[in-house]
Amino acid sequence: MSDTAIYPVPEEWARTAHVNRARYENACKAAETDPEGFWRGVAERLEWTAFPTRIKDVSFHKDDFRIRWFEDGILNVSVNCIDRHLPERRDDVAIIWEGDDPAESAAITYGELHAAVCRFANVLKKHGVNRGDRVTLYMPMIPEAAYAMLACARIGAVHSVVFGGFSPDSLAGRIEDCGSDFVITADEGLRGGKTIPLKANVDAALEKVSVRSVLVVRRTGADVAWVEGRDIDYGPEAASVEADCPPEPMGAEDPLFILYTSGSTGKPKGVLHTTGGYLVWAAWTHEVTFDYRPGQVFWCTADVGWVTGHSYLVYGPLANAATTVMFEGVPNYPDHSRFWQVVDKHRVEIFYTAPTALRALMREGDGPVKATSRSSLRLLGTVGEPINPEAWRWYHEVVGEGRCPIVDTWWQTETGGHLITPLPGSTDLKPGSATLPLPGIRLQIVDAEGHELTGPTEGNLCITDSWPGQMRTLYGDDQRFFDTYFSTYPGRYFTGDGCRRDADGYYWITGRVDDVINVSGHRMGTAEVESALVLHPYVAEAAVVGYPHDIKGQGIYAYVTLNAGVDAHDDLRAELIKHVRGEIGPIAAPDVIHWAPGLPKTRSGKIMRRILRKIAENELGALGDTSTLADPGVVDDLVKGRPA
Ligand code: WTA
Repeated sequence: MSDTAIYPVPEEWARTAHVNRARYENACKAAETDPEGFWRGVAERLEWTAFPTRIKDVSFHKDDFRIRWFEDGILNVSVNCIDRHLPERRDDVAIIWEGDDPAESAAITYGELHAAVCRFANVLKKHGVNRGDRVTLYMPMIPEAAYAMLACARIGAVHSVVFGGFSPDSLAGRIEDCGSDFVITADEGLRGGKTIPLKANVDAALEKVSVRSVLVVRRTGADVAWVEGRDIDYGPEAASVEADCPPEPMGAEDPLFILYTSGSTGKPKGVLHTTGGYLVWAAWTHEVTFDYRPGQVFWCTADVGWVTGHSYLVYGPLANAATTVMFEGVPNYPDHSRFWQVVDKHRVEIFYTAPTALRALMREGDGPVKATSRSSLRLLGTVGEPINPEAWRWYHEVVGEGRCPIVDTWWQTETGGHLITPLPGSTDLKPGSATLPLPGIRLQIVDAEGHELTGPTEGNLCITDSWPGQMRTLYGDDQRFFDTYFSTYPGRYFTGDGCRRDADGYYWITGRVDDVINVSGHRMGTAEVESALVLHPYVAEAAVVGYPHDIKGQGIYAYVTLNAGVDAHDDLRAELIKHVRGEIGPIAAPDVIHWAPGLPKTRSGKIMRRILRKIAENELGALGDTSTLADPGVVDDLVKGRPA
């Protein structure tokens, strides 16, 4: 990785962007010298029923730990995303929906969005959903997914969106954890020409945990099983209610949504975001990072099941009166030109996707890109994992034909929105670097003991002060929230990421330093995959690590010790992979299964993952000191047993 390749801000961008270099530097100064005034100013972009007088009340220290923003402010998220745009933009397109089948698409105006969300909200109310109730969404990428999210926000219910690729077991765990008794789903999803049995998965999940109601939206019209008294058909219900629903006035610190994400230990964590700070953050970052102006067509390819879909498909863009594209399909269906065909079809100006998708498309060569025009594109973005400079250059040169800046946005489910990112009118770009923090974001790189490292350096990335979009807690578990993020380095939020800072002060995220891996831009806890593996009757023990994977960024490498008397063979390998898919979902399927007669453990029984990572990476010369192992011979066996 070279620090010297610099792509300067194009002159036109420096001249016309919302934020040029002088504005960026001024904002950084203002955020430092007068944080209250600065954040008050940022909050003014929203419409408040009562504008907050208390701006920030934060301590990261154990004794008086609290994170509160805009605490006495009152607002409603759906009003900010819809109603306030109606006087001027009723007929502007809010959502462009592009179906899996290229022949299917739809345009929903802000006026239509208002009616659809109100109807949805009235259906929820009619079926007993109240302010504060948790509602689980298990939806395909259809406009009703956004309607359902906004409808919850309208009535003050808390949504928990579960990605449609998760298994019934994973869904059940997430329903149970937040005590949700209302599920919204569709008959089936459609992706890459294949159907996904969403309703059947919900039925299977509900064998483990019970809920009051399941609201079913018809997508494919397939004949699905029906439980009388529990299942509700959305279509007829929507027709039976009013297209107007008064918004619930919400406190800024009232919960908006829960989103489960993987941690380094235990079951997935229910990250909780609140109303005011989250929306301020999603809206502000969407505007400054993407230099967004109403009228432009903005496309974030993420699924609504992930935080990127929450912040940059739904909430950020709609709060800014944007035209946001929602794509039901996949990048390689019907062919590898699909992304770029959709760009041409809808005249997309800003395109935001994940490095894994780019690497997969890059492998198909330039042909499928060059078969399209892409003349509407003006800005490109990436998110989810470090982008390798080779993919960055391909994105810049082939997709963007050298004319579009790339914003490499670093953030997390926990952060609500971007924290480290170039601003296209202000930041010179370096391929592979997320560059500089947004104004008000105070980064610190520390060593393992928590000592601050200054100047050009590499270590663990912490943040020393809050920002409005920060998560507030883990649902129902304040203690785990504190322990996970604020106890490793007292007084600071620990991101879990490693990071390098170069001589220009640019930040380069090096990847997770905990037991979380990032597979195709999706977070996966190694502990979750291990738990799934050991549920199999033949498995005695399992240890999972990440390893570099050309397309996925990281692949899942599983060491498996079988029960005595069980033979290791390829059929069992396939069976174990299928088993993990069934337990968690396809995104958790191991790429490699390495039969391990034993695992390297210390005398106290702790697995030495460092060694397992090195063997998975095939760095056999760098295994380091193995003398503290209870049985050093285990390592030789593992090295000999590496799968071809
Ligand atoms: C990684 C996704 C490098 C990082 C928004 C982080 C990145 C984790 C980048 C969060 C980036 C995200 N460069 N790494 N631009 N963006 N990451 O919660 O390891 O699904 O901690 O949020 O993705 O993943 P999450």
